[in-house]
Amino acid sequence: MSKKILFPALTSLMLCICSVSPVSALETETQAQTEPVQEAQAQPGAITAQEQQLQNGTIGIISAMDNEISLLLENIDNVQEEQFAGRTYYSGELCGHHVVIVKAGIGKVRAATGAAALLDHYDLSGVIFTGIAGGTGDETQVLDVVIATDLVQHDYGQITDDGYEWTGRNNDVGGYYYCDPILVQQAYESAKNVVGEEHTFMGTIATGDQFVASESYVNQLQKEFGALACEMEGASVASVCEEYDKPYVVIRTMSDKADGKAILTYLFMRDDAADHSCKIVMDMLTGLKDPE
Ligand code: ADE
Repeated sequence: MSKKILFPALTSLMLCICSVSPVSALETETQAQTEPVQEAQAQPGAITAQEQQLQNGTIGIISAMDNEISLLLENIDNVQEEQFAGRTYYSGELCGHHVVIVKAGIGKVRAATGAAALLDHYDLSGVIFTGIAGGTGDETQVLDVVIATDLVQHDYGQITDDGYEWTGRNNDVGGYYYCDPILVQQAYESAKNVVGEEHTFMGTIATGDQFVASESYVNQLQKEFGALACEMEGASVASVCEEYDKPYVVIRTMSDKADGKAILTYLFMRDDAADHSCKIVMDMLTGLKDPE
């Protein structure tokens, strides 16, 4: 049941802010919200406090792998490196905006610890996760983009003799996490600029500590969650951002279809897909610089 969800358009006054693989091929609990964040209402002639913060503040950018931030690091100016918590953090100016970029690592644990270290150390106005994913929607093809409206840990549950059962729905640590509607809309507009509307989707992304290369599991992700994409970090970063009360969005370009051919497709497409997401981030930041 794949879907292309079109967010209701926000007004033009809104600011234009601006992997993984089979584990072997890998590069070289807080309280989850249970209701979607209400869509922001822009008053004519006014921008919200959050929009102002996004415009003036520092944006954190997180990825899982090096190739998912390499294009950003090629374009960052006045870069300063800091090392802590086992990672390198790159601060500087990107597309006229102050950013801190970090490769957190692959999987939910490394993504969460990387996000927590980033949010502990820097005063951020928002967080963007950039990277690649497996397309699980019928319509989401390789190199299409999915902007997460919400994320869910698909591997949070219990295993009994009857098999695995997802228990996130009734458990506030494994359920759904809702991205910031302003960032979602801005990411969606930027994705359309970069890859075209027909290749841009918004919807649910399913996160788990597995590289998915199984058509039957893709069917399950569609059926259980209506997921358009699957990856290994988004929901855990979302969970940490909620703990720190920071707005966030997850941008994913499809490197594969999470099916029986996914491992090979992933290996061929991961770098191009990673660059697409980076270009979307840069388009967002360019808009953030110039709100007029
Ligand atoms: N990242 C890219 N492709 C993926 C897949 N098929 N499963 C999980 N994470 C991925």
